[in-house]
Order: sequence, then structure tokens, then C-alpha cells
Amino acid sequence: MTARLLYTASDEDETRRLGEALADTLPVGSVVSLIGTLGAGKTALTSAVAARLGVPETETASPTFVLIKEYTSGRVPVYHFDTYRLKDADEFYELGPDEYFDGDGLCFVEWGDRFEEVLPPDRLDITITVLGPTRRAFELAGRGGFPSSVLDALREKLA
Ligand SMILES: Nc1ncnc2c1ncn2[C@@H]1O[C@H](COP(=O)(O)OP(=O)(O)O)[C@@H](O)[C@H]1O
Ligand SMILES: [Mg+2]
Repeated sequence: MTARLLYTASDEDETRRLGEALADTLPVGSVVSLIGTLGAGKTALTSAVAARLGVPETETASPTFVLIKEYTSGRVPVYHFDTYRLKDADEFYELGPDEYFDGDGLCFVEWGDRFEEVLPPDRLDITITVLGPTRRAFELAGRGGFPSSVLDALREKLA
């Protein structure tokens, strides 16, 4: 059975609210796959999580094109993978992703659906759909052994 949660954001503030709820709820070691088109809000959501954990916005706002950004100045480390430019799974494996996935931070992987075989089976998939200029639908689905209690806690926070 897959535990699911649907959340609609009518603007960026409401996306930030989801990011903050995730930061408050995700167990250390969680891996989140972010699925959605360019401009959907994958980076915006990740930045909101990092900000909630205490990472200064100046760090997350820098538009560098590195594949892995490590935000370690917050309460919990956040590892942000942008796999847009990776050609194939081998290129991903060369980055040594398991060290991050098995580590004690929160991992966010943009375009994770392109690299399912690289990702751990126990994870949270977040699919973002653009509904309008500032309106976004988020579908959260726990995979494998991802605890459904986390989705329950999120549901309560966002209610
Ligand atoms: N509700 C919303 N949530 C997130 N981003 C939004 C929202 N409404 C408008 N935007 C805009 O959409 C863009 C999302 O960009 P970004 O997070 O970089 O997307 P992605 O990483 O998915 O390519 C930004 O320009 C942001 O200002
Ligand atoms: Mg992005």
C-alpha cells in the first residue's frame, strides 16, 4: 500500500509552508525524489526546507550549477541534488550518492524519476504539477518502507 498526501499551493508562500512542514517532520536520513517540469518549484521547495532548518537564504539563493549542494549550517544537513544535467545512471553513481542517502541528513533529488534505480527504495516521491502561474499541486507518495506516520504528521500540520 502506498500512503499518499495531496497538497495544493496557491502561491509561493504556501509552497514554503509545505517545505517548513517537511523540515519539521522528515526523519533524519530521508530521501525525497522531486518530480516535475522546469519551473515547477523543486528548488523552491528544497530551499524552504533548508531555510526552516536554519540555512541562510544567501546560501540557497546562489544560482550555481553544481550537481550536489551541501547545506551543513542548519540544524540537520540538507543535500540537494540537481540531476538535470546528468546523462545516465552511471554519471549519478560516480557522485557517490549512497554516502549521502545512507547519511544523517535530508536528501532532495530533483528529476529523481529519471534515476529510480539509483535511489533507495524507501523514500518519499513528491510530484509537482503546475496548475497556473503561481498555483502548484503536490502529490506526496511514500515508497517502500517510508513511514506512513510521517505522512500522517504532515497531513495534520498542513490541515
Ligand atoms: N506556488 C509556487 N511554488 C513554487 N514556485 C513558484 C510558485 N509560484 C510561482 N513560482 C515560481 O516558479 C519558479 C519555480 O522555480 P524552481 O523552484 O527553480 O523550479 P524547478 O527547480 O522545479 O525547476 C520560480 O520562479 C518561482 O518564483
Ligand atoms: Mg531546480
